[in-house]
Amino acid sequence: MGLLDGQVAIVTGAGQGLGESIALEFAREGAAVALLERNPETLEATRAKIEAAGGEAKAFALDITDYVAYAQVVKDTVAWKGKIDALVNNAAIALYGTILNDSLDNWRKQINVNLEAVYMGSKLVAPHMVERQYGRIISIASIQGFAASGDAGPYNAAKGGIIAYTKSMAVELGQYNILVNAVAPGFMRTPMSFVNGEDETTTPDFLEWYVKRGKVPLRRTGLPEDVSGTVVFLASSYCRYMTGQLLVVDGGLMSTF
Ligand SMILES: NC(=O)c1ccc[n+]([C@@H]2O[C@H](COP(=O)([O-])OP(=O)(O)OC[C@H]3O[C@@H](n4cnc5c(N)ncnc54)[C@H](O)[C@@H]3O)[C@@H](O)[C@H]2O)c1
Repeated sequence: MGLLDGQVAIVTGAGQGLGESIALEFAREGAAVALLERNPETLEATRAKIEAAGGEAKAFALDITDYVAYAQVVKDTVAWKGKIDALVNNAAIALYGTILNDSLDNWRKQINVNLEAVYMGSKLVAPHMVERQYGRIISIASIQGFAASGDAGPYNAAKGGIIAYTKSMAVELGQYNILVNAVAPGFMRTPMSFVNGEDETTTPDFLEWYVKRGKVPLRRTGLPEDVSGTVVFLASSYCRYMTGQLLVVDGGLMSTF
């Protein structure tokens, strides 16, 4: 018996990192997973892994900022399985820069993928969930949605927007038994943690400050599977009276000063 037996979930950015891990975990727990990803190769790799493990998945190659394509994928998912129980808004991009040297183009790109696509996916699945009086919308924010690193303003703004919009949707959709929550990961080792070709979670500075001196109290970088279980919880029947919340999964980082 899996925690998500019989459920149907959409996971965006399912080709690598947290999205891949969430998709694999959902499938292991019994959900049929619609994988949304712009990179067809990593998309196919995740699909193959799920099927090899005996799970069920359908792959959709698209850019989730394309509203028309996204709407078609939601339609196709409903046609495939008849319903959508959960949407995991996970896909994002990170482009570094400060307000002094960043460009408007980089701002728009990040707001489009990291925030607007969360709105679009949620808007597209909500009517199906309302019809069934059941649904879970789970968005991957970041600790950078409420604490800044100083070189990622548009990313931070989008993540803060997710946190606010999660509350907004929770209030709007609660009457339909749709639970809307968010997760804020801390430092995770994924392809996104590579900045200018270097894994920011393995630099000497990172290891000294965050690991050795315990700025991350659990004294290690997070791994995708540290987050995917939390997302499964939010989609499962163990989570039923909690909505509009942000779960911080950061090894204790934000509890220190
Ligand atoms: N890695 C971290 O340290 C960290 C920390 C906090 C929050 N997060 C958040 O976790 C989530 C996953 O991050 P990750 O580290 O796995 O990132 P990642 O870059 O490793 O993976 C993101 C995936 O999303 C896909 N994607 C990006 N834009 C897309 C688009 N327009 N359409 C379709 N697919 C698209 C990418 O192709 C990629 O497969 C993101 O929301 C990220 O902001 C990550």
